[in-house]
Amino acid sequence: MNVTVFGTGYVGLVQGAVLAEVGHQVVCVDVDELKVKQLEQGIIPIYEPGLTSMVKENHAAGRLEFTTDAARGVKHGQVQFIAVGTPPDEDGSADLKYVLAVAATIAEHMDREQIIINKSTVPVGSADKVRAEVKKVLKERGRHEIGFDVVSNPEFLKEGSAVADCQRPDRIIIGTECDDTIEVMRELYAPFNRNRDKIIVMDVRSAELTKYAANCMLATKISFMNEMANLAERLGADIEAVRLGIGADPRIGYHFIYPGVGYGGSCFPKDLQALIHASDNIDFDAKLLKAVESRNKEQKTTLFQKISQHFNGQLEGKNFAIWGLSFKPNTDDMRDAPSRVLMEALWTAGAKVQAYDPEAMEEAQRLYGSHEHLSLCGTKEAALKNTNALIIVTEWQNFRAPDFEFIKTQLSEPTIFDGRNLYEPRRMVAKGFTYYSVGRAN
Ligand code: UGA
Repeated sequence: MNVTVFGTGYVGLVQGAVLAEVGHQVVCVDVDELKVKQLEQGIIPIYEPGLTSMVKENHAAGRLEFTTDAARGVKHGQVQFIAVGTPPDEDGSADLKYVLAVAATIAEHMDREQIIINKSTVPVGSADKVRAEVKKVLKERGRHEIGFDVVSNPEFLKEGSAVADCQRPDRIIIGTECDDTIEVMRELYAPFNRNRDKIIVMDVRSAELTKYAANCMLATKISFMNEMANLAERLGADIEAVRLGIGADPRIGYHFIYPGVGYGGSCFPKDLQALIHASDNIDFDAKLLKAVESRNKEQKTTLFQKISQHFNGQLEGKNFAIWGLSFKPNTDDMRDAPSRVLMEALWTAGAKVQAYDPEAMEEAQRLYGSHEHLSLCGTKEAALKNTNALIIVTEWQNFRAPDFEFIKTQLSEPTIFDGRNLYEPRRMVAKGFTYYSVGRAN
């Protein structure tokens, strides 16, 4: 099938590459000329396992093209994906300006029936806005007789496993009331829908809300566990034992019940805020969502509180090693990352930071490169040199079994603040460390 994808950000690029991989003929359109040139050369702006080779191979095979030429894109596709960003407005609501701009562009160049697929995470009611925008432009151009449908088809991919998630989705949500559209969407997704029928068809607004509901549910699980971890610390219980104990109940399950330093990234914080804002707008008090958000904000400060307490508030001139800057492993993304809240608090308190992350060093350089109290180190070992303590913020695989004896030789006192519960407290004490973790007795 001929497919056009507007937006070569995270979602658009992965979706485009994966659709090309199964044999669809994909044209990706972006307004950013430099980005398009780089993509044509196989330079991928984001770190995502498996993506670079997939883009290169499909581009070389002629199944995946990149262009700034919107007219060509619209002409090419039997379906038109909108996969552009919906950044939060100042008040936290999702800004639809890029989505609506693409809708207008599609309408401008449309000369036959089209299916417009909304892949971006957009507030409930956005498909109606896209529909109105397309109608308006078509009318202005005197082509109001051209038919079209706007489908909500949210994505559920995770950073770090985006390609695999997209190739093997656990569900494919299709929000439309048009039978012809459903048929086309079934054909488009047939290669991903083989073992069992993963397609769930519903009305547009339910599909839009499904995306937010899924992310808000996952964020709720995390905030719940962080609340339990805080309680466990105060009650002398071990949250890791509790996690195993409750996860065994299939109604709860083991996924997304890891306590830590709070959720970050480009999705949960933004989507929570957007849904809270949308609720406020219709005079509905989303009490639970607000609590989830506020617990998360607080959780991002807990490591700092422990550090400050340990040093009796005397952080001026102290030097800390930080392992992990990205908001989670297998990504270089530092958007809303807990590491940022921590570093900024340490700096405000007069401390210095020596940081290492396996992938996010460039991003850290871009964000904080000029900060006088930050040294970015090439290895996790180098980050330890002459520091007062080690702080672990992201659970990268290669932090899981470090050389503890070496760590001891580098720290002025053997103290580790672990925001991800990577090690066994008893063993750490036996090794001679003062070890702080989340929700476990120290
Ligand atoms: C999230 C969802 O998991 C995807 O399904 C969704 O498609 C995506 O948002 C999106 O809307 O685009 P992502 O933000 O990539 O994906 O990252 P997650 O793996 O969900 O992790 C989010 C945050 O929660 C991370 O900071 C992670 O450290 C934290 N987390 C996760 C916990 O603190 N505990 C857990 O048990 C799980």
